[in-house]
Amino acid sequence: MGTKHRKPVLTAATADKHRLYEIAVQCPEAEIDFVTSRFKSLRGRPLRRLCEDFCGTSAAACEFVKRHADNYAEGLDLHAPTLAWARRHNVANLSPEQQRRIELIRRNVLHPRGADKSFDAVVAMNFSYWIFKTRETLRTYFGAVRAALASDGVFFLDTWGGYESMKEQRERRRCVGGFTYVWDQARYDPISGDLTCYIHFDFPRGPVMERAFVYDWRLWTLPELRELLTEAGFRKVTVYWEGEDEKGHGNSVFSPRKRGVADASFICYIGAEK
Ligand SMILES: C[S@@+](CC[C@H](N)C(=O)[O-])C[C@H]1O[C@@H](n2cnc3c(N)ncnc32)[C@H](O)[C@@H]1O
Repeated sequence: MGTKHRKPVLTAATADKHRLYEIAVQCPEAEIDFVTSRFKSLRGRPLRRLCEDFCGTSAAACEFVKRHADNYAEGLDLHAPTLAWARRHNVANLSPEQQRRIELIRRNVLHPRGADKSFDAVVAMNFSYWIFKTRETLRTYFGAVRAALASDGVFFLDTWGGYESMKEQRERRRCVGGFTYVWDQARYDPISGDLTCYIHFDFPRGPVMERAFVYDWRLWTLPELRELLTEAGFRKVTVYWEGEDEKGHGNSVFSPRKRGVADASFICYIGAEK
């Protein structure tokens, strides 16, 4: 077979780390399914105005504006080069009409947003808010989100826990495209709760893309998050726990629960109602 039909081989030199992250980590369709259906059942009306905090590549905001002609999304992130990547690769793939309903803004999520910004929902996914390491800062962040919400608005965030979250370990997963995603829990300090993680990408040929992403976090627990959301003024905080299939594996269906299970590692959603 001629070489012109062969797909280029991904290597650390040729691959785009944001694209690899999207393939390996994100599922904006499932996230938007979850927040839109939960909002509808909580509020009895459709979710139309969404803010994606820590938006990075803005995958969720782009997915949201594709869903309905009345949907408006805003994405907030501090990092100008990542926002530029999002505009070039994701916003540019939207239709001109969809592009008019999305705005990516370089801004610190801790800062108050304009009084005109009244969102039905704010989302903060993939534990991005773990960069805030003190109760005071995290409460300030939650307060800024609450102030940006409409009177019946809901804040949706995800969290991760279980005893494996406190282990220093590496996990490898082969991804579509032939590369391997490496989740490296490099350092956990049980006194401060500080957790340092890296994402590396490994390829069939050539060197590893080391530390493509670096996370300097505090590992927050669900009881702490529920308390801080309440202290920030949210009226009701609900944990949405994942169900299981017949083999005992997560089935991607998240339902309100008052009691969880001591799983080795779990990811769940939290809904905080204004
Ligand atoms: C883990 S990444 C993005 C995750 C993405 N939301 C997802 O679901 O995969 C975290 C992003 O938060 C941004 N960030 C960090 N601190 C921030 C802050 N104080 N305000 C706004 N963005 C911030 C970083 O620039 C980075 O793009």
